[in-house]
Amino acid sequence: MNKKQRESLQIPAHVAIILDGNGRWARKRHMPRTFGHQAGVENIRKITLAAADLGIKALSVYAFSTENWSRPQEEVDFLMKLPGEFEERFKDDFKDYDVKVMFSGRTSHLSEKNLDILNRITKNTKDRKGIILNICFDYGSYAEITQSVQKIAQDVLDQKLKPEDIEPKHIEENLYTKDLPKLDLLIRPSGEVRLSNFFLWQAAYAELYFCKTFWPAFSKKDLEKAILEFNLRDRRFGGLKK
Ligand code: IPE
Ligand code: IPE
Ligand code: MG
Repeated sequence: MNKKQRESLQIPAHVAIILDGNGRWARKRHMPRTFGHQAGVENIRKITLAAADLGIKALSVYAFSTENWSRPQEEVDFLMKLPGEFEERFKDDFKDYDVKVMFSGRTSHLSEKNLDILNRITKNTKDRKGIILNICFDYGSYAEITQSVQKIAQDVLDQKLKPEDIEPKHIEENLYTKDLPKLDLLIRPSGEVRLSNFFLWQAAYAELYFCKTFWPAFSKKDLEKAILEFNLRDRRFGGLKK
């Protein structure tokens, strides 16, 4: 897509991608599933830079779900090395592109070492002005919404809020994504057509886009195709067509 084409399009402010299909991508190459995860990480770097070039303000990627702990220990161990990988391999490019990195997910189940890495990346990039890369790691919507409700319950106990005054905005204020633009477009590659506990709240009025490509092979062209499709959608938000 050239600059002129891009300028004629509406670019979604916040795009989310469910990074699915690493295992099947590897299997097709007669390689272990971990080989697919390795390629999948590399692709986060590539697609973040592509998204920045396209003018996307925030990119959320679903990299490890609260349910993924149920995978074989060996695979979980490999996936738990990913934060270290992000830090090492993304450093230079992300600096050049002024990428701000944040994480969404539970912190209660992660190792001290991973928490240190995640905090360090967040801290080192917090003042950057480029695209925001939100890495959803040990993320699940049930956990996210539950912790929000717990905070609200505490506010009610502390008499800061009355039950009858609770509004959707109170739930939203406690979500990990509270500082990000509203979700415009949610992409799931790999042929699966479900959300798998991802962004259940945020996706209420997002456009959904599914494609067959496995995540490690998902390219800038695929992202552009999703944006072209997004531009054909008629977003009515419950109102009527203009
Ligand atoms: C996505 O790829 C990565 C994670 C869930 C961590 P998968 O590992 O789910 O790959 P498939 O879906 O089995 O091909
Ligand atoms: C969703 O993919 C989670 C991530 C991509 C991180 P899964 O492969 O875990 O989801 P299911 O099992 O197909 O629903
Ligand atoms: Mg999968």
